[in-house]
Amino acid sequence: MTKRIAILGSTGSIGKNALRVIDGLNSSLAARRSPPERNRYEVVALTAHSNVELLAQQARKYKPKFVCITNPDYFTPLKERLKTSDNRLQTTDDRRQNIKVLAGPESLIQIAELKEVDIVLSAIVGSAGLQAVLAAAKAGKRLAIANKEPLVIAGELLMKTVAENNAEILPIDSEHSAVFQALKAGDSSQVSRIILTTSGGPFRKLSAAELESVTLEQALAHPIWDMGPKITIDSATMMNKALEIIEAHWLFDVPTEKIEVLVHPESIIHSLVEFVDGSCIAQMSRPDMCLPIQYALTYPERLPGISKPLNLEEVGRLSFEKPNLKNFRALTLAYSIAKTAGTAPAVFNAANEQAVELFLQGKIRFVQILELVERCLDKHDVIQQPDMKQLLNADRWARKEVLLAN
Ligand SMILES: NC(=O)c1ccc[n+]([C@@H]2O[C@H](COP(=O)([O-])OP(=O)(O)OC[C@H]3O[C@@H](n4cnc5c(N)ncnc54)[C@H](OP(=O)(O)O)[C@@H]3O)[C@@H](O)[C@H]2O)c1
Repeated sequence: MTKRIAILGSTGSIGKNALRVIDGLNSSLAARRSPPERNRYEVVALTAHSNVELLAQQARKYKPKFVCITNPDYFTPLKERLKTSDNRLQTTDDRRQNIKVLAGPESLIQIAELKEVDIVLSAIVGSAGLQAVLAAAKAGKRLAIANKEPLVIAGELLMKTVAENNAEILPIDSEHSAVFQALKAGDSSQVSRIILTTSGGPFRKLSAAELESVTLEQALAHPIWDMGPKITIDSATMMNKALEIIEAHWLFDVPTEKIEVLVHPESIIHSLVEFVDGSCIAQMSRPDMCLPIQYALTYPERLPGISKPLNLEEVGRLSFEKPNLKNFRALTLAYSIAKTAGTAPAVFNAANEQAVELFLQGKIRFVQILELVERCLDKHDVIQQPDMKQLLNADRWARKEVLLAN
């Protein structure tokens, strides 16, 4: 059966890998020489924010029924690139087909709800993906989610929406995919610990004094993973792991007291689940996002794809360390934020998004990212049991606060 996929954020690091995974799956299915199995993964919709060039290129190759550019300023340039004077897409093989070009952030919701879509793969960065992710859950889709921020901001609401609408949520974050896979070995009520691994980022070995003067270029040079700029900076501050603690709490319904972080610089073990009998199940693979992306698409099946197998002889040695909680305060903060709950996680996330943006623009120093987040959290009056409007207000408020504080 064909699985019809919408990729939200197809021009980003995860989005581009998702398309490579789909290509790989389709060629390996075609090679099986069983016609009904052919082209089981169909790209129905693609979205980007402003990268019209790449979106148009992807649209020509994959011929989706819908493309969407969330920044409306790029609607006309996108249409021009697609040469859609008659609202038909000029494709590479010169066949013409109908394509609908949508623009504006609200059209993401339209895409997430499409009846033509079975799987919504959310690869948007930040809280911009929140409403579409919720819409996909409401529409009962399989949600293959890389975009962790919606789970941090509105985890309770999202998981409730998934359950109420018979939707499915499959993690793409490598750590959460690892936990998801390891949980198959037992019952979630028998979990004693979830251990999220981290490479430690580029600044693992630096002293607090050395962290004061790190540059943007150094922060963007992740030792293992090649990712978008926001998550790369989050990995350097360890905010990424902090967000992942909250993400795991909601995805797996496990209290944060049972979620630990372990530094594992080789990034071969992507996370572990320890059960009450002391058995510890780890998921291992080469550090390659294509594997968790593929699993979120093919689950419960496993299919040959483009990821290369792991060779432990080549890896040689796996090492582990405790995280440095003094230098990377975001980790400790994650536990208190999860406990406070209400609008606190939304503020935590939005303040970080804004501070990272300032750092990327060269307006603040690396260590100021967390200082701004902490200052913002101190000033915030938490609202418990927030509705979506209150969460969005908290997000907006935190961004303004960070801009004012700088
Ligand atoms: N990269 C990884 O290996 C990795 C691993 C685990 C989890 N994740 C998570 O996956 C998500 C995506 O990460 P990424 O590294 O792929 O990010 P990225 O490379 O920066 O790509 C982000 C995508 O989102 C789109 N986008 C940006 N701002 C938007 C907005 N305001 N509204 C709608 N779309 C917008 C971008 O479009 P344009 O290209 O047009 O700007 C792009 O397609 C993040 O939540 C991250 O934490 C990523």
